[in-house]
Amino acid sequence: MTRKIDIFDTTLRDGEQSPGASMNTEEKLVIAREMLRLNVDVIEAGFPISSPGDFESVRKISELVGYDAVVCALTRAIEKDIVVAADALQFAKRPRIHTGIGVSESHMRDKLRLTPDQTVERAVEAVTCAKKYVDDVQFYAEDAGRSDYAFLARIIQAVVDAGATVVNIPDTTGYSLPEEFGRRIKHLVDNVNGIEGVTIAVHCHNDLGMATALAMAGVANGARQIECTINGLGERAGNTAMEEVVMAIKMHEAELDAHTDINTREFVKASRLVSSITGMNVQANKAIVGANAFAHSSGIHQDGVLKKRDTYEIIDPADVGAGASQIVLTARSGHAALKHRLEELGYEFEPEKLDELYEAFLNLADKKKEVYDEDLESLVNERDREADALYTLEGVQISCGFPLTPTATLTVRNPEGQSITVCDWGTGPVDAVYKAVNQVIGTENDLMEYSVQSVTRGIDALGEVTVRVKAASGEIYTGRGADGDIIVSSTKAYLNALNRLISDRR
Ligand code: KIV
Ligand code: ZN
Repeated sequence: MTRKIDIFDTTLRDGEQSPGASMNTEEKLVIAREMLRLNVDVIEAGFPISSPGDFESVRKISELVGYDAVVCALTRAIEKDIVVAADALQFAKRPRIHTGIGVSESHMRDKLRLTPDQTVERAVEAVTCAKKYVDDVQFYAEDAGRSDYAFLARIIQAVVDAGATVVNIPDTTGYSLPEEFGRRIKHLVDNVNGIEGVTIAVHCHNDLGMATALAMAGVANGARQIECTINGLGERAGNTAMEEVVMAIKMHEAELDAHTDINTREFVKASRLVSSITGMNVQANKAIVGANAFAHSSGIHQDGVLKKRDTYEIIDPADVGAGASQIVLTARSGHAALKHRLEELGYEFEPEKLDELYEAFLNLADKKKEVYDEDLESLVNERDREADALYTLEGVQISCGFPLTPTATLTVRNPEGQSITVCDWGTGPVDAVYKAVNQVIGTENDLMEYSVQSVTRGIDALGEVTVRVKAASGEIYTGRGADGDIIVSSTKAYLNALNRLISDRR
């Protein structure tokens, strides 16, 4: 049997640190359920001291997960953080506290303003404090990728002696080269007494596009846990993509003497779900889960694949859940069929909410003959967005074309329940609508990004619009909207982003 590599998912923590990717507790629970279907070993559910929302998410995910995975909460090496994390984890059956401190010269000198001796002291105090609340304590040596080898070994030795069960070696800035990072892990294997009794984890960022290669180098040199996210979401250029490392291990199991227990057939679904909830689109050429990951366009390649798939395909698309989306539901599908399919997609609803969704589903099925999984996900997310909205769309009408001036008439219900109707014009229909929205809401913002994607194929597909707006404070908010009419989707997406901005400010 090859070595088991634990998969530690941090989509809900590091992934959420992607600008504009913030999620509410309900959304995090949907993703946590998907993590259970993927069979991950550890779910990093949040950073409880950072906000009441994060605290609540860690608490609720702890209740949901039970014995099926370890639930982990992040802290700094600060007693208050650790106490709050322990409180958030109180219902977890397998709780883990993840505490740590910066270990590179830059972090110690310029950020923490601590000497190396003081840093070691703080690390040991944090692990000792966390051990009072849980047995399973993971220590992270932040910016280990740029740290001194001897100092890294020294601090890791100290936390292992203090009782850390997992030691996480992050390349926080994505600076390392894979071979060098591998040597760093090997140095710890060779120089820390008792390291064989703890798990070495790697947590690699993608600033040079090498996060997956770095994690693989870690595994080749003794790491037994990989920290990763779905779609490689994460701070700045992101984190190691779970789908990439898991498939790389699966392809090279014998050479690496390693395997994971991940249910890889969930990858495409998980990718879509995370993209749809966070509003972070997946590039078409993204490895494993991108729309083109299994598309062959050159004649030579097509000829080869038709003769034998593995001439140009190293992975069977079915192994990652790719391929034609199943046509599951139509206007003749009943309530029970909808409930069943939604449960398979990871959604559970109270009967009342399910009735509302069934109505919306029938409306959609009347317009579109075939309702795909992607349509259902879009429908559910659309309902959630509407339920949380402060300003809701009541109507939008556009007149545009050559040689007209694009003009929008918009009716929006404000948080006080009043309907407000305004008109405006712009360079195009979307510009006209957005100007009309700005008249009603009047919140200063910059539209940084606007994109429209079809949810499924076919001329009757839903169009999903994603926008990213920058508030005066510099925060970025993502909004999404889906409808058969892309002007309606565009309006909903913009309102969704502004609703998030306003509720955050409140
Ligand atoms: O990148 C990093 O160092 C982190 C730690 C908090 C684990 O995210
Ligand atoms: Zn990170």
